Amino acid sequence: IDEKYERLKELNEQALQGGGNARVARQHEKGKLTARERIELLMDEGTFEEIGKLVVHRSSDFGLDKEKYLGDGVVTGYGNVNGRMVYVFSQDFTVFGGSLSETFAEKIVKIMDLAMKNGAPVIGLNDSGGARIQEGVVSLAGYADIFYRNTRASGVVPQISAIMGPCAGGAVYSPAITDFILMVEDTSYMFVTGPNVVKTVTQEDVTSEELGGASTHSTKSGVTHFSCANEVECINNIKQLLSYMPQNCEDEAPAVSYHSSDEKRSALDKVLPDNPNQPYDMREVVAEIADEESFMEVHKNYAENIIVGFARIGGRSIGIVGNQPASLAGVLDINSSTKAARFVRFCDCFNIPLLVLVDVPGFLPGTDQEWHGIINHGAKLLYAFSEATVPRVTVITRKAYGGAYDVMNSKHIGADMNFAWPTAEIAVMGAKGAAEIIFKGEIAKASDPAAKLDEKVAEYTNRFANPFEAAARGYIDEVIMPHETRIKVMKAFEMLKNKVDTLPRKKHGNIPL
Ligand code: COA
Repeated sequence: IDEKYERLKELNEQALQGGGNARVARQHEKGKLTARERIELLMDEGTFEEIGKLVVHRSSDFGLDKEKYLGDGVVTGYGNVNGRMVYVFSQDFTVFGGSLSETFAEKIVKIMDLAMKNGAPVIGLNDSGGARIQEGVVSLAGYADIFYRNTRASGVVPQISAIMGPCAGGAVYSPAITDFILMVEDTSYMFVTGPNVVKTVTQEDVTSEELGGASTHSTKSGVTHFSCANEVECINNIKQLLSYMPQNCEDEAPAVSYHSSDEKRSALDKVLPDNPNQPYDMREVVAEIADEESFMEVHKNYAENIIVGFARIGGRSIGIVGNQPASLAGVLDINSSTKAARFVRFCDCFNIPLLVLVDVPGFLPGTDQEWHGIINHGAKLLYAFSEATVPRVTVITRKAYGGAYDVMNSKHIGADMNFAWPTAEIAVMGAKGAAEIIFKGEIAKASDPAAKLDEKVAEYTNRFANPFEAAARGYIDEVIMPHETRIKVMKAFEMLKNKVDTLPRKKHGNIPL
């Protein structure tokens, strides 16, 4: 019997070696941690339970029968993050470059199925050379088994992907379907086809980093939601992100304890510049409304004309969407609409109430936007808000012009409480543009056209560039002083705590894609 016990001990020790010391050293030289070190950082101490530690591949082609590593290149299991259960897979680059074999895929599939049945998030730590080339089509089948489950799990349990090394070819489509992607700067990249293929097909010279590094995907493509300076920051971001989320779509996000104090925020009375065409930073408004230091911005450097992120108010999780006047005057365009729509849908999937801060001059004009389908993409945001059944609160700080007013969580598309500051301008368009159109003839005939225009702008401003016309019709529930915003929003969410709203029975909607 002792021999058998000893055998188990040996196997367990062997499994911990991954691809061996030399390859582990190479991994560290690149500034990367090993699959197990990453799990150790992620999980609460002593809570990780491994599944499939002794799995090996079944391939015998190209000499593979003589090269087997226990675990076969991926560490899978479950454990706690800040006291809450998650399932995790961590790809081990030291074993066949973390490449995906039949058994490797089976291990991931197993924990995904468990996560679905038991309602807990799935965290994927990706570091892989792609399909296990020696296994051929079996490996492709393995990817598809994972993609299928990613899709089935979408909206059921949160799925988070960290890219901590290569992630190329078909492999990108698992992270792509998950809810959030984090990338580590300088050591990770994602692309469908690498620099060599790009060179052959398009004659472009591009490095891996330029083509698909963290900086590219966090600014140009928006593929990644977070660009992290190093692996430790990346893992910490995953933990923070999880703290705003429920375990699954039937659950509520955890609340942190909060003791009410003076909720008046006088700083908000001074955020807006006197000139309504001057920018200001909507993050200042967010910082005053949300609980102190609670805002975690998502997609920070992509489509900066809109800000999205998680925060807490009175200790409870909310999702915030806000136009950003400090970038392109806060205009809605293709990228900002898509960015916000995806965030709104995540919050709605997982019962996270939405706070929407509005200062929007309209949609961005131009052939570039029209030819790339701003009609379609802008509709995504309209659709996402309209179908969201979570508590929804809006605060209009300044401009809410035209169709963009409707889109930005207006009363008409189902928002529950709509507030406006006295500085709000809820109108079809800006006063100058409006006066130029409707008083065109009168201005042209005037002896001093410029003075006439000023007079008409003042007339239009007086009539429409305010929140009172909308409040008179009940489109705005209350016009509030900026310093009251936090308390009003807190009370609104408290009132909406037990909101029940359902969509008409359907298979699923058909959001414009
Ligand atoms: N299948 C099988 N083994 C693979 C692999 C794959 N897809 N990708 C890498 N490996 C192995 C390498 O053979 C090497 O093995 P060794 O430790 O026994 O020498 C090990 O993983 C590390 O790879 P290496 O090329 O030395 O690492 P690198 O950091 O220099 O480069 C990649 C990493 C991913 C750029 C490179 O390995 C690569 O191009 N891999 C193939 C990518 C691909 O075409 N995948 C298939 C289509 S999705």
